Amino acid sequence: MEKLSELSIVCDNWASAAPGLAKNLGILDLDQIELAKKLLHEGQCHLFANWADQGVDDEKKKCFFAQVSRLNGNYPGGLSAYIQNARHLLADSKAGKNPFEGFIPSVPSGEVLTFGDDNFVMFEEAGVKEARKAAFVLVAGGLGERLGYNRIKVSLPSETTTGTCFLQHYIESVLVLQEASCKLLQETFHVEIPFVIMTSDDTHIPTLKLLESNYYFGMKPDQVILIKQEKVACLDDNDARIALDPTDKYMIQTKPHGHGDVHSLLYSSGLLNKWRDAGLRWVLFYQDTNGLLFKAIPASLGVSVTKGYHVNSLAVPRKAKEAIGGITKLTHSDGRTMVINVEYNQLDPLLRATGHADGDANGETGYSPFPGNINQLILELGPYIEELTRTHGAISEFVNPKYKDSSKTSFKSSTRLECMMQDYPKTLPSTARVGFTVMDTWLAYAPVKNNPEDAAKVPKGNPYHSATSGEMAIYRANCLILRKLYLLLERSEIFFFFLAGVKIADPATVVFNGQEVEIWPRITWKPKWALTFSDVQKKVKEGCSFSQRATMVLNGPNIYLQGLSLDGTLIIHAVNEAQVQVSGSVQNKGWVLMPADYKDKSLPEEISIRGFVIEKLEQLEIAGRENSGSSD
Ligand code: UTP
Repeated sequence: MEKLSELSIVCDNWASAAPGLAKNLGILDLDQIELAKKLLHEGQCHLFANWADQGVDDEKKKCFFAQVSRLNGNYPGGLSAYIQNARHLLADSKAGKNPFEGFIPSVPSGEVLTFGDDNFVMFEEAGVKEARKAAFVLVAGGLGERLGYNRIKVSLPSETTTGTCFLQHYIESVLVLQEASCKLLQETFHVEIPFVIMTSDDTHIPTLKLLESNYYFGMKPDQVILIKQEKVACLDDNDARIALDPTDKYMIQTKPHGHGDVHSLLYSSGLLNKWRDAGLRWVLFYQDTNGLLFKAIPASLGVSVTKGYHVNSLAVPRKAKEAIGGITKLTHSDGRTMVINVEYNQLDPLLRATGHADGDANGETGYSPFPGNINQLILELGPYIEELTRTHGAISEFVNPKYKDSSKTSFKSSTRLECMMQDYPKTLPSTARVGFTVMDTWLAYAPVKNNPEDAAKVPKGNPYHSATSGEMAIYRANCLILRKLYLLLERSEIFFFFLAGVKIADPATVVFNGQEVEIWPRITWKPKWALTFSDVQKKVKEGCSFSQRATMVLNGPNIYLQGLSLDGTLIIHAVNEAQVQVSGSVQNKGWVLMPADYKDKSLPEEISIRGFVIEKLEQLEIAGRENSGSSD
């Protein structure tokens, strides 16, 4: 009777509206009644429409309420807030409302860096110093549907010369930054940079297994913190009626809410306050498959420190209409301003509607004046905590229903609210210091997102963003870094022109998995060999040259190259204490890239997905043990 009156508070005729619920009242406890009240109040009676009589499927009904309880607990403001937000956003979507109504776009201010110049080196040094006050957050909850790789994306090798997977590369980079940061400040105390991974039900267990089976890639297990995002309820119509799983009438259909969840999760986990109390100042967010990212991190963190940015978005030069968002300042007629990412398909109409007749067009530099957002963010911890305390971690959301027809009354399939990590600045006050750091694409951005078939269809000149292009980008970046060294030496040591610098052969052009790519010499190094340009400068001296066939692996902090001529494969592993000086000529059959068909099921997927396999014909291996000397 008590339960009956509880539900009657919501609506008098609830029993006829939700007879399935009425006949099961006897098995519900008070918490479940509370949840049922919420659902009825939000017009979700249909969820109980096909419930069996009490005594049948009772366990499943319990599971239903357990799921409702999770969905309610995981959303800021609970399920009611979710449904109400959805109704507003669905109404806006149906009305075709322009989210930028009243806003005038302009180019925000930020820092444009030139790799290798004095400014860049200065920012890198500032960034390394500050790294001991940073926490790193990897968002890795995505399904990776576009890549179609069977395992989690962070387990994929970033390149196959060493076979280092993305997660290993990220962890090793953080460990090296941690050590370099303390060393630079000549501080003897030991700092452990927190390393957070946001997972989801799709990625949590495999991520944990990958870490455990590899001893956390050298990081202390308690330095790695996994936080799991939950999915959100799917919606069947514009009234935000929650969708049931087509295969189970006692289960709500759910889908991912997007990487924006990372903010509410960090807020509710209590980690942010803990970090602030421990003296940390920065939180760096980044994504699962960008093998170049850590080449850009030290300098961009240096920009955050030097410029005092509350929000610093990493960006690359963007061609007009290129399919990446543009970082844009928006100023409203009512005085509001914000600096945010505007998706490429929204930028052109926004510009045209606000007096820019050419829309999204290139400027004098040949690039769009709006830098291309690569979704790596550096936030200053203090202002970040202030903002999340105000918003309770909620982040601006959007909905993207696929309508059946122009009446926009029904959907082709259920939809849900989504949110993006980069939309965090949307709610910031106009006093917030929001900037960006632009670096060359070759240095900073080569994500692995697309499967071979889709990548092969990418129009010529646009990036493939495949496993093939991601790997080639790493070799190219390393070669261009070494070439930069060559240019500097050439300029500064003009009298020693013939001896100076590093000569890198030009790349060959090859087609793998239907994608035309440049193969540069396969020069790779572990983060402990070099994380910054200054590290490379210290370790590579004059007179080195690499043929296009060259493959080199540098694994050890004290390996020095001088007068090395490589035409083949050279692998150097040296323990931390070993100093290895390498010079002279190395020539052997080397390692050759042989085409492999992605449809060939006999190949491991991480190989077929990139369309080539490295055939290891011959190599010179040097093992640097303690007190080992030079190798000629
Ligand atoms: P992507 O845009 O690459 O999406 O995510 P995705 O879900 O991984 O891949 P597709 O679209 O299904 O092919 C960018 C980053 O955000 C993370 C991903 O793991 C990736 O690092 N992400 C995405 C989350 O952490 N959670 C999400 O709900 C979505």
